Amino acid sequence: MKLIYQQMLSFFAVIITVVVVLGFAFIRTTKTMIYQNSWQQLQQYAASIEKEAIRYNTKTHQVVGFNQQFLNDGTVILRDQHIHFSVYDANKKVVYPNSTVIGDAAVPGGSIYDPHISVGDWKKLKQNKTITQSPHVTFRSRRHDRPVNTPALRTIDVLVPLFYKNNGVRKFVGAISIGSFEQTLQANEQQIENNLFIALLVSGVAALLLSYILARYSVRRINRLRHATHSVASGDFNIHVESNHKDEIDDLADDFNGMVSSLRASDEEIKRQEKRRREFMADAAHEMRTPLTTINGILEGLAYDAIPEEDKAHSIELMQNETKRLIRLVNENLDYEKIRTGQIALNKTNFDGSTVLHNLVEQLDKKAAAAEDQFKLTVPEELPVWADYDRFVQVLFNIMQNAIQFSQDNVIEVTAHRTDHAVEIAVQDHGIGMTPEQVKNIWERYYKADASRKNTKYGESGLGLAISHQLVQQHGGTIKVDSVAGEGTCFTITFPDSGFDKPIVED
Ligand SMILES: Nc1ncnc2c1ncn2[C@@H]1O[C@H](COP(=O)(O)OP(=O)(O)OP(=O)(O)O)[C@@H](O)[C@H]1O
Ligand SMILES: [Mg+2]
Repeated sequence: MKLIYQQMLSFFAVIITVVVVLGFAFIRTTKTMIYQNSWQQLQQYAASIEKEAIRYNTKTHQVVGFNQQFLNDGTVILRDQHIHFSVYDANKKVVYPNSTVIGDAAVPGGSIYDPHISVGDWKKLKQNKTITQSPHVTFRSRRHDRPVNTPALRTIDVLVPLFYKNNGVRKFVGAISIGSFEQTLQANEQQIENNLFIALLVSGVAALLLSYILARYSVRRINRLRHATHSVASGDFNIHVESNHKDEIDDLADDFNGMVSSLRASDEEIKRQEKRRREFMADAAHEMRTPLTTINGILEGLAYDAIPEEDKAHSIELMQNETKRLIRLVNENLDYEKIRTGQIALNKTNFDGSTVLHNLVEQLDKKAAAAEDQFKLTVPEELPVWADYDRFVQVLFNIMQNAIQFSQDNVIEVTAHRTDHAVEIAVQDHGIGMTPEQVKNIWERYYKADASRKNTKYGESGLGLAISHQLVQQHGGTIKVDSVAGEGTCFTITFPDSGFDKPIVED
């Protein structure tokens, strides 16, 4: 079943249940009230009959007669209101209606009102207790002399005791039984029930409408989320679901938005990686093709004797250089893979980093001079380092060489100091710098920010930083870069005194 119908049904069920329960409670209360009112009214009639119509003998304290005028008028009025009464004397004998007034033309079949008073009820009457009676048979057929049990002739009755009270005398002298047709009350009940039924119908329709509006409201919000989910499933991550941060559906929308933004981020990362992978394949092929083409050309020249004798030595030297370059490429690739997969063991020792840095500067001074660069080394006299000596040199050599490569006629500042449990070395140049986009990719193999810089005198292959990054991670250290395009770059490397030597395997 659709959610909207489920929700409608539950709203509707709740509203209708409340209306029905209230309705029944209302009917019951009203019924009770109707009966109580009737009994009360009958009691008042009985009181006025007692006061106005009954004559007592002051000596015998017996009912001796009736105010005939009152009875004639009263009886007719009461009968018009479908009210009947009988008067009993102290011996439970009916003294009214007597033979002169007997007969009731308004009652079908000429039946007579003759409520039967039980022994128990008579006892209670004697104890001055008024008795109310629920609908029961009180009419007797005059012709057949037996009770008439037709719904139309059932009455509710009140039995009121009669006491003679005068000059301190108080004596039970009889009772009045006064009754009203149940049907008269039922007509009132029916009227109330009809009204209630109409109210039920109206509230049913209102409940249906209300439940539809409520259900539609929440289902619309869920559908909005559903459509957004579909969009995401079909690859559209630029979707945002409105949320007022009010209820659980809003919470769901917030979670959904959070999920979409992380999906968007990973989608971008996947695309970037995929782009890098394709570039990696192209770059790797390109790096190999250049030396191979050179070698192939020279070999063909030699095979066809197309190279003059005096150039042969130079051609062979060229071939050797290209072969070395190829070997370097392959070795570096292998090296990278080995480091990445933790296949190399670091031979960590304690050595003086200060001496190493001095040596490196000395070694690279020539190259720096060629680029009109100048090293400025600021290191403490002693700089204890805990690392694999050769790998430490490899990392710094590459970073310092990069600084020369990418800056011209500038100072390259190399600073080093010890922090609590590590050594921190920074290489700052004032060269071409990098854009944030370029910075993101420099740890990838074969990445070169400037693709046109291939095969320069430094033999750039775009592997140096990828290897350095892996090596520093392997030492448990960090390598970070701050670069501003056109202003310069600063690489900061830390080697901790003890680090986790676990292989850090990416991918
Ligand atoms: N100090 C720097 N200033 C500007 N760009 C830099 C700097 N260091 C690295 N880069 C950028 O990062 C790229 C990758 O550097 P990496 O050292 O990995 O490769 P490479 O120097 O080009 O080749 P090699 O494998 O010979 O080191 C460089 O091509 C360059 O674009
Ligand atoms: Mg390099």
